[in-house]
Parts: sequence; C-alpha cells; structure tokens
Amino acid sequence: MTAAPSRARLVGLGRGEFADRLGEAIDVYVTAMGYPRSTARQRRSLWLEHSYRPGWRSVGWLDEQDRLTGVGYGYWGGPGQWWFEEVRRGLRARRGEPGAVSVDWLTDYFELTELHVHPQAQGSGIGESLLRALARDATRARMLLSTPEYGRAAPGRAWRLYRRAGFVDVLREHLFTGDPRPFAVLGRELPLLPTRHPTHAPE
Ligand SMILES: CC(C)(COP(=O)(O)OP(=O)(O)OC[C@H]1O[C@@H](n2cnc3c(N)ncnc32)[C@H](O)[C@@H]1OP(=O)(O)O)[C@@H](O)C(=O)NCCC(=O)NCCS
Repeated sequence: MTAAPSRARLVGLGRGEFADRLGEAIDVYVTAMGYPRSTARQRRSLWLEHSYRPGWRSVGWLDEQDRLTGVGYGYWGGPGQWWFEEVRRGLRARRGEPGAVSVDWLTDYFELTELHVHPQAQGSGIGESLLRALARDATRARMLLSTPEYGRAAPGRAWRLYRRAGFVDVLREHLFTGDPRPFAVLGRELPLLPTRHPTHAPE
C-alpha cells in the first residue's frame, strides 16, 4: 500500500528537524542562488552554528512528497556578530552623507539570514509566506537583511519581494569583508503589512 500524498505546506523547523533536513535546505540554497556545489560543504557547519543563536527561527515549505522546496531562517542580531559588525562599520562610514540612516537601525532586530525557494517552486508566493512566518515570530521591533545589488539589471525576484513587503534602504553598495560583490542592506519595522496576494501563511 502506498502512503497518501500529503498537502504542500509551510512548517516551522525546530533545531532537530532543521539539522535533519540540512542537506535538502542547502540544496535549495545552492540551486536557487546558482552557486557551485562546493559551497554546500562550508555552509553546513555555519548554518548549524547559527541555529544555536538567540532568537533563531526557521521555516520550510514542504511539497506534496514531503520534500523541502523552500527554507528561511534568521535570529536576533547584535554586537559581536560578524554581520552586525560589518553593517555597523558601513553605517558609520556613511555617517553625515545624504540619505545615510542612523546606526539605531541596528537595535532590537531580527536578521533574516537566509531565504530561498527552489527555482521550480518559485513564483507562487512561497517566498513571501516564509518571510511573513518568520516576521510574525521574530519578536523584535524590526527585520534586517542583506541581498546582492542588482547593478544594471532589472531588480530580481528577491528585490521585488522585499520592496513589496515594505523593506527600505538601510545601506546600499556595501562591501562585506572578503566578498567583492556589492550588497544592499534593507530593513523594515515589524509587523509586516498585509499582502495584496492571498498568502499561504496564517496571518
Ligand atoms: C527570493 C525568493 C526567495 C522568492 O521566492 P518566491 O516564492 O519565488 O517569491 P514570491 O513569494 O515573492 O513569489 C514570486 C512571485 O509570485 C507572485 N505571487 C505571490 N503570491 C502569489 C499568489 N498567491 N498567487 C500568484 N502569484 C503570487 C508574486 O507577485 C511574485 O511575482 P514577481 O516575482 O513577478 O514579483 C526566490 O525567488 C529565491 O529563492 N530566489 C533566489 C535566491 C535569492 O535570491 N534569495 C534571497 C537572497 S537575499
């Protein structure tokens, strides 16, 4: 007898389930980002280490065959963390420039560290549902994230999602140590506003 197919659904991933599904999660990540498979090895230990940080939350999207096709996670940011220090350095360097925002953005925030949907599952609102579920449980005043700048190309799907959800510029064209690509740091106050789409996530 074959098991009845289950419904595609959004799930919260506890630390144990996140660890169990780490291979699948990183597979979604390297495929969605178009990274070489060699990236997967070094990410495993980093993602596991992240799952022990204060405020860590993860959500996943399971398809009808119970395969993970989307994943997102983040945690409370703060001093001493690499990302916090890098962004604070960037904000301090821009202090006084037109459009520069205050380093106060770096208080009481949830860092959206990773958000990825497998290319075959993109385009139906899964990414937004994962983002909203994380925002709902973030228990911080704001959410921050970094995403590659799009340069001369049209803003891609990630940018459209973040703008639609109301994320504003915190820092543009930022160079993180060890990465030649410029990044944007985006943020917004929580909670998120309701979406114009019917979202998969319970509000
Ligand atoms: C960014 C990413 C996570 C977004 O996931 P997604 O499921 O494709 O994104 P969305 O939830 O926004 O849905 C995408 C589209 O479906 C549309 N949509 C959303 N809800 C919908 C619904 N209920 N019905 C129909 N369409 C819907 C959106 O309007 C959006 O259209 P657009 O992309 O043309 O603007 C995903 O594209 C991805 O993994 N990209 C590569 C990795 C990446 O860049 N990650 C972020 C790094 S910072």
